Amino acid sequence: MTGSTTGPHDASPADPEALRARAQSALLAARERTALLTSCVEDGELTAQHSPLMSPLVWDLAHIGNQEEQWLLRAVGGRAALRPEIDSLYDAFEHPRATRPSLPLLAPDEARRYAADVRGRALDVLESTPFHGSLLTDAGFAFGMIAQHEQQHDETMLITHQLRAGAPALTAPDPDPAAAFGGFTGPPEVLVPGGPFMMGTSAEPWALDNERPAHRRFVPPYFIDTTPVTNAAYQRFIDAGGYEEPRWWHERGWEAVRRNKLTAPLFWRREAGQWLRRRFGALEPVPGDEPVLHVSWYEADAYARWAGRRLPTEAEWEKAARHHPGEDRSLRYPWGDADPTPERANLGQRHLRPAPAGSYPLGESPLGVRQLIGDVWEWTASDFLPYPGFVAFPYREYSEVFFGGDYKVLRGGAFSVDAVACRGTFRNWDHPVRRQIFSGFRTARDVTAAETSEGVI
Ligand code: AVJ
Ligand code: FE
Repeated sequence: MTGSTTGPHDASPADPEALRARAQSALLAARERTALLTSCVEDGELTAQHSPLMSPLVWDLAHIGNQEEQWLLRAVGGRAALRPEIDSLYDAFEHPRATRPSLPLLAPDEARRYAADVRGRALDVLESTPFHGSLLTDAGFAFGMIAQHEQQHDETMLITHQLRAGAPALTAPDPDPAAAFGGFTGPPEVLVPGGPFMMGTSAEPWALDNERPAHRRFVPPYFIDTTPVTNAAYQRFIDAGGYEEPRWWHERGWEAVRRNKLTAPLFWRREAGQWLRRRFGALEPVPGDEPVLHVSWYEADAYARWAGRRLPTEAEWEKAARHHPGEDRSLRYPWGDADPTPERANLGQRHLRPAPAGSYPLGESPLGVRQLIGDVWEWTASDFLPYPGFVAFPYREYSEVFFGGDYKVLRGGAFSVDAVACRGTFRNWDHPVRRQIFSGFRTARDVTAAETSEGVI
């Protein structure tokens, strides 16, 4: 499952003591973020239902502690359950989100105490556990998994904050123009040559089951957008009557447009001839140069069709993000194998918005594609399916139960998610109607017959 299956085309894991230090700081960083997201509003707001799509924040808080207890204290540490009676309350499969506010949940103070108690013991387990000898502990996998789990719920809680009504509770500086720099003037699309590349990973120590194993994938040549689609471009689709034309829409997308009277991305409203958006409690003009945010898969798909293009498949997205044409291996990230930094990608809730399209020249892929990592999650054309050789680990409910035709894959992470839960191989998924998530997209197209005969490829 982990470092023992290092493949020839993948990055090698660091040594065990470096991984242990990394696990500890990843756990601490996640908890700092969790504390901020659950202390910036009154306790009364933690138990409230801000949207039927989301859990009350206090559920996420105790669920984070409960998952950590189950995996780090019980499974890895061999310890007895601290509070076995609460397991079922915090089992995501037993209670749909909309019903969670009416459960006898731990009160905010109890939830904080429980999560802190679990954490104290988990750090003891971390110190005393060898990082080898079992699939769960090899390269510190379980600790990395739990840090990712907490950061994923921190992203979920950020979505709840975005849906919440009332005065702003969160603030963050805007992306630094020196690193982010707008006004990109490069080519709008990039040719990715046809051929095989290595998709997925067998070596990334904390990669989750659905990212495994590394396997060779043939991808025909295609063009892909250099940057995500912007608000200004998306507005042209709206202005051209995109939401009134069934021909651009998938049948079920058109149904959603009509049923919900959709006319624009979620959180947008038109006032005095101008598009405004609500962002974490504040109303502002929609910035034309930023990647479009809060669109469903159906909206992304319709836009692409209107533009004479299509969404990239998951393999096309990953090849654009990881393939190095000069080397027969895939990079961990578009810029290489080094971890993300603030100069390379907008991740980790450092900013509460994407940077302008074309930002982060230092995060560019070898072929010149930008912002593949960070800023906005990118919808792909693909259903969420297992890779050849997939093995569910350590529990079927992380990925396996979601495989099939009900979910579309999103790639690349967003400003809302931490680097620990974002890689060139990381796979996210959601229902195609969802748009409360921090979702955007870029488009792609096939190489034309004329381009082929002219020798463009
Ligand atoms: C991978 C983001 C779809 O939030 O449903 C959290 C992550 N899994 N707890 C989700 C997850 C279990 C998952 N996503
Ligand atoms: Fe969870």
